[in-house]
Amino acid sequence: MKTRGVRHLLSMADLDRDAIEQLLNLTESFAEVSERSIPKVPALRGKTLAWLFYEDSTRTRLSFETAAKRLSADTMNFSVSSSSVNKGESLRDTVETLSAMGIDGIVVRHGSAGVPQQITQWTEASVINAGDGSHQHPTQSLLDLYTARSHFGDLDGRRITIVGDIRHSRVARSNVLGFATMGATVTLVAPPSLLPPSLEGWPVEVEHDLDAVLESTDICYLLRMQLERQKQAVVPSLREFHHEYGLTVARANRLPTDSLIMHPGPMNRGVEISGEVADRPQSVVTEQVANGVSVRMAVLFLLLGSGLDVVDDRRVAA
Ligand code: NCD
Repeated sequence: MKTRGVRHLLSMADLDRDAIEQLLNLTESFAEVSERSIPKVPALRGKTLAWLFYEDSTRTRLSFETAAKRLSADTMNFSVSSSSVNKGESLRDTVETLSAMGIDGIVVRHGSAGVPQQITQWTEASVINAGDGSHQHPTQSLLDLYTARSHFGDLDGRRITIVGDIRHSRVARSNVLGFATMGATVTLVAPPSLLPPSLEGWPVEVEHDLDAVLESTDICYLLRMQLERQKQAVVPSLREFHHEYGLTVARANRLPTDSLIMHPGPMNRGVEISGEVADRPQSVVTEQVANGVSVRMAVLFLLLGSGLDVVDDRRVAA
């Protein structure tokens, strides 16, 4: 599959290896744009994007906004908290209202799985999923793949260990698919209460003891406790979770020296990761954030821009 004709980005399940590689290669061109003294290209001049964020966000929203600005797109700064949504307007009416104003893309974050897919029925615009419930967060996975690839080159045979609240994490679901598609071996480490009820069909190995896999880990990927999605206590206490599953200094010292420590943010220092470990050179959290802008430029360009099959770098950089 190539990315020609793809109109929406809803799930990593929609992208095969060719499509991911094309997106990551395009990201490289946009990373180069981001390093220029004037990091701006006219690639999306005349296109309008709307943000529809029904859930909190710092880095994802700012990253999409920065990406849109660097591509010269216009943006509609719609804020759910100060809009007619507070007067009871339905999601469908909100989407149809925005669409009537003539938009080319909607970037949506919502607490319920499947909302971005639903929105594609109500608008002609491209829909980009910026996180739907515990379901998917494809641009986070793409920026993680890009960051990992920039350190290791090929991800074939690399071992990623994803630790923590996998049950409630859309990042975990997207990254399991993304890293497995790129040939990596994915191991999930969590207590049973933080794993999904069924892992049938997941291309993963499961381990309950983090200490057992540290030495064979190339990427140690930590997840935040998604307290807002947990309906009941899933661990005895955060202190105990840190003791059993947190990346402490002693555990981080046992990771191979060329391994990476990754986290999608926001980090809870002292819970899933110790503060000292989060600040080590091996921890590439800020690199992930920087790469997020370039990845989102690539996604917006592919969905709203030329729709080229084989993307010509010179057109990107013009
Ligand atoms: C993640 C999210 O919102 O899904 N954050 C992000 O987008 N960088 C992870 C999280 O909130 O824990």
